[in-house]
Amino acid sequence: MEIEHIAVVGAGTMGSGIAQVCATSGYQVTLIDILPAQLERALAAIAQSVEKLHSKGRLSDEQRQAAERNIATASNLSPAAEADLVIEAVVEDLEVKRRTFTELDELTRPEVILASNTSSLSITALGAATKRPDKVIGMHFMNPVPLMQLVEIVRGMATSDETTATALELTKSLGKTPVEARDYPGFISNRILCPMINEAIYALMEGVGTPEAIDTVMKLGMNHPMGPLELADLIGLDVVLSIMNVLHEGLGDKYRPCPLLQRMVAAGHLGRKTGRGFYSY
Ligand code: CAA
Repeated sequence: MEIEHIAVVGAGTMGSGIAQVCATSGYQVTLIDILPAQLERALAAIAQSVEKLHSKGRLSDEQRQAAERNIATASNLSPAAEADLVIEAVVEDLEVKRRTFTELDELTRPEVILASNTSSLSITALGAATKRPDKVIGMHFMNPVPLMQLVEIVRGMATSDETTATALELTKSLGKTPVEARDYPGFISNRILCPMINEAIYALMEGVGTPEAIDTVMKLGMNHPMGPLELADLIGLDVVLSIMNVLHEGLGDKYRPCPLLQRMVAAGHLGRKTGRGFYSY
């Protein structure tokens, strides 16, 4: 099936970035969120990002216009009935995602692929919430979506070769590079990244170094573009904690979330989005 219309469900940071790259790559997009204020914030963020990329010559005039022209918004799931493919990017909570997949399964045409941007939850479990587990797949974009090259493609136990081939092609048509991973907790990306961040937080808690020292070591010593604590602030400490909980539950004790991470989340210091994390913004 030719893909022309993509529904993106959830207009947070990831959903808005995904909608943006789909629109600038020529797809018709419906960005769906139950909160109108979230949709407004997403459209403003997309406009700002597109302007910046256009001013740097990374988007053409045509792509800039496409971003305006190609994105519609909706505050309920019904426009997904018209979509040729759906990418879900709602809150990282298995029950919420399973409910969303069950509803999408009822609404969309039977041949439509339902992709999830989950960063660590089981694609197999999401597939089992539908009557089309062969058409459920992970398309895990990286933050900030317009700048990051990778999309991790995650096959659930029942995901078909055809669905995988379509997700790989779609990713390439967005100008991104797909990498396939199996459906184990955290896939490849977060199984490796989040324990590193967690370890940096242990180092901070134990007084091994200041946040600046820890981040500088990883930037100048290992050529990482951002230090692990800066990156945790960008990702959101609540997201890092929920991924560590999935790794801990699925893979065992060596993935135990750092108590300082738990305390900071309990205090509401979630990073950039709340103005305070390991740094102040
Ligand atoms: N759209 C457009 N421009 C953006 C942007 C966006 N969404 N976000 C940032 N920028 C711009 C900034 O405004 C800044 O612009 P100016 O130079 O005009 O001020 C520019 O990008 C940043 O450029 P810099 O030269 O400062 O930084 P950089 O060249 O190092 O690139 C970066 C920035 C791409 C974010 C880089 O620091 C980087 O790669 N960081 C690591 C990001 C990362 O690891 N992401 C993965 C997170 S994990 C994840 O997403 C998975 C998960 O499930 C948790």
